[in-house]
Amino acid sequence: MSATSLKVRERLQDLVLSTEQALEIKNKLNHEIERGLGKDTHATSSVKCFITYVQDLPNSKERGKFLALDLGGTNFRVLLITLAEGAHFHMDSKIYAVPKDIMTGPGTGLFDHIADCLADFMKEYDVYKEKLPLGFTFSFPCVQEGLTKARLSTWTKGFNCEGVENNDVVKLLKEAIARRGDVQIDVMAVLNDTTGTLMSCAYKKHNCRVGLIVGTGSNACYVEKLENVQLWDGPTEGVPDQVIINTEWGAFGDNDVLENIRTEYDRTIDRESINPGKQLFEKMISGMYMGELVRLVLVKLIREGLIFGGKSSDMIQEKGRFYTKYVSEIESDKQGEYHSCLQVLEELGLGGVATETDMADVRTVCELVSRRAAHLTSAGVACLLDRMGEKDVTVAVDGSVYRFHPHFHHLMMDKISELIDPSIKFDLMLSEDGSGRGAALVAAVACRDR
Ligand code: BGC
Repeated sequence: MSATSLKVRERLQDLVLSTEQALEIKNKLNHEIERGLGKDTHATSSVKCFITYVQDLPNSKERGKFLALDLGGTNFRVLLITLAEGAHFHMDSKIYAVPKDIMTGPGTGLFDHIADCLADFMKEYDVYKEKLPLGFTFSFPCVQEGLTKARLSTWTKGFNCEGVENNDVVKLLKEAIARRGDVQIDVMAVLNDTTGTLMSCAYKKHNCRVGLIVGTGSNACYVEKLENVQLWDGPTEGVPDQVIINTEWGAFGDNDVLENIRTEYDRTIDRESINPGKQLFEKMISGMYMGELVRLVLVKLIREGLIFGGKSSDMIQEKGRFYTKYVSEIESDKQGEYHSCLQVLEELGLGGVATETDMADVRTVCELVSRRAAHLTSAGVACLLDRMGEKDVTVAVDGSVYRFHPHFHHLMMDKISELIDPSIKFDLMLSEDGSGRGAALVAAVACRDR
C-alpha cells in the first residue's frame, strides 16, 4: 500500500475486511445458499439460487449460424456466431446503446428497442430473411420455468422498466418482434451471463464448475448436486444428477445478514440508488458502484479536512462523477508514481490542490475499496468451492472490474487460497465473451438435442 497519512488510514479502518470476517461471510453465504435451495426457506433467503435448466455441455459437434442477444451489462449487444468444424467459430457483433429513458421507461419500449436493434443487425449482416436460432442472455434475477421461459423477479443495475417484473422475458421479446412483423427468430434458450460464462469456458476446460461476473453487477453460478436442490420439481429419473444454479448472490445481505460489515458509504450508496434495500452485496463489489464508493469516501475526508487541505471542487461533489475506471487507472500507477492519479484529479478540478501525500491518500482509498470488493468476491467463490468439494476446479470469470482492474485477479487468487479447504486446487480463468458466445453455445446445444 502507498505512503499514505496515518490519520486517513485510521479513519478508513471500517473498509478493511479481516480474514475472520471473510470466513464469517463465507459461512453466512453458505447458509443462505442452503436456504435458497430449500423448498420452505427459499422465500426468505436473500440468495435465491435459481435453477437454470442449462444442462448439456457443448461437445464441439455443434454447427451452424446462431444469433445471440446480450442485455444486462453496460451495453446491449447483438451477435451472429457461426460454429464450424473442430470447435472453430466466427463471430460478428454490434453494440447498441440503451438510452437512460428506455432503461427506466415502460417494458414495451425496452423490448421494442431490442427488436429494432436485432432487425438492424440482421439487415447489416445479411440474415434478415433467415429464421435463425437465438440465445438470449438476460442478466437479471429470473425464476426459470424451462430453458425458454424466465420470469424476471426484480430489476437490478439501474434498469427499472414497468411491466416486466413477474413476466416471461422471452414472451415479451417475441411479442416485440411480432409487433415489427418483419424478422423471424427461433428462441432456443434464455440464460444469465454467469451461465454463459461457465458454458463458454467449459467448452475448453472440462473442470469448469463456476461462472463468475464482476462487472456492472456481480453474481455467480455453480454446479450443484441435484439431491441438494429441494426446489427441483422436475423428474428425478433420467435427468443429469447435477444442475447449474444461478445463485444471484448480488442480493446477499438483503435480509440484514451483512449489517456488521456495511459502512456509512454503503448505506449512502444504497439510499441513493434506484433500488434501495436490494442487491446489498453487489453494491459493495461491482463496477456500477465502485467509483461512487471511492467518491463518497473522498468527500468525507475533504469534509473532515484530512485531504486536499479541506478544499473541494464542484465535480468531486457530483454524484457518479468519479468513474469506476479511475480506480483501475489510479492503481495502475507504479508504487510512488502518480501519473494517472494526477490526471484524474485534474479532470475533477483538484489537480492544483493535491500534494503528493494527497495523491497517496487517493490511491489508498481506491485500494481499500477495490480490495474489499476482491475479498468479498473471494469469500463467495471460496464458499462455492468448499460446497462442491471437488478437488480441481476452474472458475470462469468475466466482467469489466475483473478484466480491467490491475490487481483484482491476484487479490482474489491469494484470498481464495487463504479461505478454502487447502486440499482443493482451483484456477480463475478469464472467459472471453461468455455472455455472447455462451448464449450461442447454449442455443446450439438446444438445437442439437432437439
Ligand atoms: C444480476 C445478475 C447478473 C449480475 C452480473 C446482477 O445485477 O442480478 O443476474 O448475473 O448482475 O451481470
